[in-house]
Amino acid sequence: MAGREQHGDGVRRRRVVLFSLPFQGHLNPMLKLAALLRARGLGVTVLHTGFNAPDPARHAEVDFFPIHETLPDEATSPDSDILRKLLALNAACEAPFRAALASLLRGGGSGHRQDVACAVVDGQCYAAMGAAAQLGVPALALRTDSAAAFRNMLACPRLRDAGYIPIKEEQLDEPVPDLEPLRVQDLIRVDGCDTDELCGFVASVADAVRASVSGIVINTFEAIEASELAKIQRELSLPAFAVGPLHLLFQTPPAEQSLHEPDHGCLAWLDAHPPRSVLYVSLGSLACVDRGAFEEMAWGLAGSGVPFLWVARPGSVSGAGDEAPPLPDGFEEEIRGRGKIVKWAPQREVLAHEAICAFWTHCGWNSTLESICEGVPMLVQPCFADQMVTARYVTHEWGVGLEVGEVLERGTVSKAVTEVMAGEDGAQMRERAHRLQMQASAATSSAMDSLVRFILSL
Ligand code: UDX
Repeated sequence: MAGREQHGDGVRRRRVVLFSLPFQGHLNPMLKLAALLRARGLGVTVLHTGFNAPDPARHAEVDFFPIHETLPDEATSPDSDILRKLLALNAACEAPFRAALASLLRGGGSGHRQDVACAVVDGQCYAAMGAAAQLGVPALALRTDSAAAFRNMLACPRLRDAGYIPIKEEQLDEPVPDLEPLRVQDLIRVDGCDTDELCGFVASVADAVRASVSGIVINTFEAIEASELAKIQRELSLPAFAVGPLHLLFQTPPAEQSLHEPDHGCLAWLDAHPPRSVLYVSLGSLACVDRGAFEEMAWGLAGSGVPFLWVARPGSVSGAGDEAPPLPDGFEEEIRGRGKIVKWAPQREVLAHEAICAFWTHCGWNSTLESICEGVPMLVQPCFADQMVTARYVTHEWGVGLEVGEVLERGTVSKAVTEVMAGEDGAQMRERAHRLQMQASAATSSAMDSLVRFILSL
């Protein structure tokens, strides 16, 4: 191993401790970062919750250390919104994270004091940033959303003072100064949540970053977010490392850390379809829609006439608990084998499959990056938080996607699906997506190298 060969020069002995909140879209990039740091000779320990714990057998090079938290229901229930989850996780993980990090500093089970260079903690976990700083461990925040979304968070106090928050109906189309191309309707929001509570959470993150963090690590790349990155560095006076797209930086990619069992049968189903003929539909691991929206999606897909692969995740229809959402009556007869519905897909393999033509996505940042990296144009249906910001960038900054419709209604859905699959706009978006794919594959690991140098200087 490169790390062991370098044992004598001090590189191998320095250790990075990583901690992610237990979400699919946060664990994936954190574990990839862990593998990349390990491959550069650093010791790596991943602290993790017992809930959605990563499988150590899939990451042999990394040490794992549970924090032994006790989570309230609202941190894990599919009926609890993202803000409830984030607040509950921060509260429940603070003391266990501090105790686990302190134990590691004392040597954990090894009996030797560890040379911990820094902790890389989830960029939404202000509790862990503060706890690391209290223990004298330099903290870096890993943002698993876009640089643009993070800038929106940092701007919240200013937007509130200027009257853009709470969002008002009559201002929806107004551009937001200094956050172009965002309009008021594209600002981070969580429907049904109290504005004060959302602003309070955002302020806790921003305050912790300003008070306790030595640098920001972002899973993005310069070619798409250079100006947002420069502004973050200026606004925070902190280094920001654009280390993404993390999943592209491997010669041999590590095993995926999937919290659900992927249905690999859908790849064989895709094999039976011609190139660029299938629409892939997935709203990620957390987003929920109500029953009415789910039915409009179903009938919109049916009416479009295109073949589709649809991830209807258990728990993705609100009020239905953990159950796989039942399909509308008559739907399967209507589509007559034209669509395949699965509970969870091997998404990266799906997006890389030549049968895929376009991706109907909620614009979770991982899904967006994965789509860009495969040159697949998107239909956007943002559901909450950073997804609003990303959807606007996809459609208006990078020009690689189309809105599924302001109101989710079967007729507009069918029209949007047909346009992205076979229309003139769809063809132009595909060309632009192909150009972005080229830029993504040219993104080098130089930011990772700078990050490692920075960590070793701490
Ligand atoms: C969350 C937030 O929603 C997102 O906006 C934020 O940027 C990161 O955390 P999530 O909603 O799950 O993540 O979306 P996303 O970021 O797209 O991550 C989902 C991950 O699950 C992707 O890596 C995707 O490849 C994977 N996935 C999704 C599968 O492997 N199979 C599926 O069927 C669906």
